[in-house]
Amino acid sequence: MTDPTIVILTGAGVSAESGLATFRDNNGLWCNHRVEDVATPEAFVRNPSLVHEFYNQRRAQLKEAHPNAAHLALAQLASQWNGRVFVVTQNVDDLHDRAALIHSGGKLWHMHGELHKARCSASDEVFDWDVDMTVDTPCPCCQKAGRLRPHIVWFGEMPLYMGMIQHVLAECDLFISIGTSGNVYPAAGFVREARMNRKAHTVEINMEPSSGHSLFHEGIYGPATQTVPAYVERILAGEII
Ligand code: APR
Repeated sequence: MTDPTIVILTGAGVSAESGLATFRDNNGLWCNHRVEDVATPEAFVRNPSLVHEFYNQRRAQLKEAHPNAAHLALAQLASQWNGRVFVVTQNVDDLHDRAALIHSGGKLWHMHGELHKARCSASDEVFDWDVDMTVDTPCPCCQKAGRLRPHIVWFGEMPLYMGMIQHVLAECDLFISIGTSGNVYPAAGFVREARMNRKAHTVEINMEPSSGHSLFHEGIYGPATQTVPAYVERILAGEII
């Protein structure tokens, strides 16, 4: 009998208390920008400078943001849980990475890409990227300007790591969704995939019930920096699985 496998989906709510704006809360990113202008392949063709500016601003904000107690609790879970821990994040920030989730044995998949990476539109090669990007920035692989794009999955594009995500959902014993409104697929459908494997217990941890709250066995509501460490403590105490 192997130790139970835990799959955790996170959304913008897990980084909210680190000072990073969510998308659909009051004053969220989609209150101040139109998705069609900054988060689609068509937007990038139509006005690449506007798209670059949107992601340059968000990348620069990461310098002021730090992992919070929720990120650290998930890293603690990954280091102390005997079974496997997979974190699938919709977030493009690097706060799970900086919370040392990976170094503590957890597997981390950024299904919507990462602000700290760039991609060549011609070769699809991906590069670490920490500075502003503009239409004049030469691509590191082909040295041509105008080919570099943020390594972000835009609306209408296929999220990353889907094969591996579906594999772990099919075999997990505990599925936890943290800080997501459940508005965007395929992530919003992960709870259904986890429940298709009868043994999985499914929990939503959020500020308020999400669109898909009725699909979960259990809901815990409140700020992630309080609810996530408390729930991790219960898991490690053997109270959950
Ligand atoms: N603690 C816990 N939950 C919180 C907190 C907090 N401190 N603050 C906000 N939340 C919750 C909100 O109640 C909301 O349900 O986080 C959720 C954030 O929802 P969204 O803003 O819709 O963000 P998310 O679900 O991550 O969006 C998914 O949509 O626009 C795309 O690609 C983008 O990855 C993003 C995807």
